[in-house]
Amino acid sequence: IRARPDCVLGIATGRTMMPVYAKLAALCKQEDLSLARVSSFNLDEYIGGAAGESVSFRSYTLRHLAAATDLPAASVHAPDGAAADVFAEAERYEQAIREAGGIDLQLLGLGRNGHIGFNEPGSSLASRTRVKALSEQTLRANRADLGSPAPSAAITVGLGTILSARSCLVLAVGTAKSAAVAAMVEGPVTARVPASVLQHH
Ligand code: GLP
Repeated sequence: IRARPDCVLGIATGRTMMPVYAKLAALCKQEDLSLARVSSFNLDEYIGGAAGESVSFRSYTLRHLAAATDLPAASVHAPDGAAADVFAEAERYEQAIREAGGIDLQLLGLGRNGHIGFNEPGSSLASRTRVKALSEQTLRANRADLGSPAPSAAITVGLGTILSARSCLVLAVGTAKSAAVAAMVEGPVTARVPASVLQHH
């Protein structure tokens, strides 16, 4: 952000990223860091307005980043999971990222099954933004996080979209993620472990 004040950030949500955004917020308060010219694109969003605001990844970014820094709410982009035509919405979002000049730095968390964004195992390594059904394992993890049933489908930026980012930064903490980290870094590049595609970045 210091090197390029008008950079485009790719935003991951989830627990792992919370300290990162808290640190960014602290830097904005204590130092001369400003996100006023940054724009952000969320990786993914649950489908179905019924999920409510508290579950939405867009509201996560507004809460943890826009409200805590000077990132303008109008610069926070996310797929619209409540769109009448979610397939068209996925295409619009892919186009919006392209029109913004692409992602400069893509932040990524890691699912226990090796997913990034909501690119579940079996995702095409060349995929662009699209609708995905969530795996049982992901649904279980999300249900535990939310304390309520999580929506079973999402719009996610694709693996090909992620590979188009100029830089990628993956964060994973805790033993629950260790097998996924090992498979991502040391295993074969395979759609069974979507994050392994990053070996080609
Ligand atoms: C979720 C999200 C990802 C997130 C990942 C890890 O399913 N779609 O964007 O990075 O899982 O979440 P957490 O950091 O809470 O473990």
